[in-house]
Amino acid sequence: MKKFTSVKDIDSLPDWVETAKKLKANPYAFKHLGENITLGLLFFNPSLRTRLSTQKAAINLGMNVMVMNLNSDGWSIELEDGTVMDQGTQEHIKEAAGVISQYCDIIGVRTFPRLKNRDEDYSEKILNKFIQNALVPVVSLESATLHPLQSLADVLTIEEQKKTPKPKVVLTWAPHPRALPQAVPNSFAEWMKVADVNLVIANPEGFDLAPEFTEGVTVLHKQDEALKDADFVYAKNWSSFEDYGKIGEGFNDWQITTDKMALTNQGKFMHCLPVRRNVIVADEVLDSDASLVLEQANNRTYAAQVVLYKMLQNG
Ligand code: CP
Repeated sequence: MKKFTSVKDIDSLPDWVETAKKLKANPYAFKHLGENITLGLLFFNPSLRTRLSTQKAAINLGMNVMVMNLNSDGWSIELEDGTVMDQGTQEHIKEAAGVISQYCDIIGVRTFPRLKNRDEDYSEKILNKFIQNALVPVVSLESATLHPLQSLADVLTIEEQKKTPKPKVVLTWAPHPRALPQAVPNSFAEWMKVADVNLVIANPEGFDLAPEFTEGVTVLHKQDEALKDADFVYAKNWSSFEDYGKIGEGFNDWQITTDKMALTNQGKFMHCLPVRRNVIVADEVLDSDASLVLEQANNRTYAAQVVLYKMLQNG
């Protein structure tokens, strides 16, 4: 396995979920597997969960871990080939990725979109340049358009919590004061389409996700209609794909409240975190027994662990 960037990189989702459950039940069973193997985690952007859970997953497998905040601690990286590097960038991705590969056996990269140019963000330039130039496997720690470690953890959480074989899962847009990437909802839709669930997406008009993620999925522009009889409510804000990067203003009634949750089938509340309280979701929902946010965060460790386990197993 040379990369983990999307659900398309895995062979069988049911097998991966079963493996994650086994690793969760016995996290240290494969501590020998990572002996003398080093994971390098490279962050261009902030992180709490991804950073700590991926380190924990590696430690559980007996690996060594090195972490670097590339934006603040590294040289400024040039991505273009053939550039005369007489401006701001100091180190080319060819050397940077090649050098990191001398120290690390697996590399994780987090790189957010700029939300200025849709084609540029959706080309996944930074992640793909790392994959092209690294000499070792690369794991996405959230890229411009996808967050596969989060989605795998979310699949595991739904599998553990579901009360019916094919639950209704509603991914709903929720308000936020700043422009956020589409990575989490894109990825959630991508993985849910492979999982055995009935996925419905709810968002205001003008905030439909890219067609490749909504194809074959029911998309509603009325949140109340979508929430009816939901088993799981996954709230997330995203900026517009259509009017790229635009913030949704005037949709405060899309916040998830106890009244909204009352429309569901005693549904569970999910969010990837971090979450803005009383903007995305009301305190009463987030602090209720219906909230799965800590279970999701816990499962981030086992999502990362199954990825590393598969890579280590494959040599
Ligand atoms: N959900 C998530 O990826 O959290 P962090 O940005 O804190 O890693």
